[in-house]
Amino acid sequence: MSPEIKPDFLISPEGLRVDGRRPDELRPIELEVGVLKTADGSAMIKQGKTHIIAAVYGPRELHPRHLTLNDKAYLRCVYRMATFSVPDRKRPAPSRREREISMVITNALEPALFLEEFPRTVVDVFIQVIQADGGTRCAAINAASLALADAGIPMRSLVPAVAVGKADGVLIVDLGDAEDKYGEGDVPMAVLPSTGEITLLQQDGSFTKEELLEAIQMGLNACTYIHELQKDALKRAYLRKTPEKEDEDEYEDDLETDLGESELPEEADE
Ligand code: CDP
Repeated sequence: MSPEIKPDFLISPEGLRVDGRRPDELRPIELEVGVLKTADGSAMIKQGKTHIIAAVYGPRELHPRHLTLNDKAYLRCVYRMATFSVPDRKRPAPSRREREISMVITNALEPALFLEEFPRTVVDVFIQVIQADGGTRCAAINAASLALADAGIPMRSLVPAVAVGKADGVLIVDLGDAEDKYGEGDVPMAVLPSTGEITLLQQDGSFTKEELLEAIQMGLNACTYIHELQKDALKRAYLRKTPEKEDEDEYEDDLETDLGESELPEEADE
């Protein structure tokens, strides 16, 4: 996964990246909903070599009780990396980095959820990184929002996320591990497609104002694409659960209602 040796260049003379992608090209993304029998909702993502599983339990009784919120459900996201997910064995104890990523994932997902419908409960989101090859916080958001939808938590919309970065002075979308480690910076972001609200925006490294604005636009375009993949994955899972429904339009209508999108304005075309 993690290259031991720094690549000679991150952008080739032909303008391609270390894995042959164009600057605006995403890694191959595989999404699968309903992958765990024991969870109320679950999803798996493979984004390049990054591999993550998300499991949702709840709304359910919250322990410890002193965390209870009287006006809404408590959203508790826990991001963890398996010890074997990175080349150097990851110590099993939760790291500061894992706690920080758990917090930003919570903040990225919460605006999508109607948590006020379940006061005094908890919605638990467990995110397990099986294999890390860059962009795990964004891939985790992609999978976790699908797992929340699979659990039937009322949502404004799914939450697609992607990191945009800079390598050899070129803006690139969906960083792999080498680009993350040896590039000049990255901007992980997440968006609510139904409103355009950006719910995660971090920055590592330095960008000019123009670069940052262009990076955000590239990220939004990528999120529009990821959102389509998320909806497809949800439709496939829905189809498996209700095979008697054969009309595609019926799925579309039900899906929109489930996601609370039916009364929202049409998404703007990019
Ligand atoms: O994964 P993401 O880009 O959201 O987070 P990061 O903190 O910027 O980490 C970048 C990458 O470094 C991860 O995706 C892993 O591939 C790698 N990493 C690692 O090799 N060992 C760790 N203990 C933590 C991260």
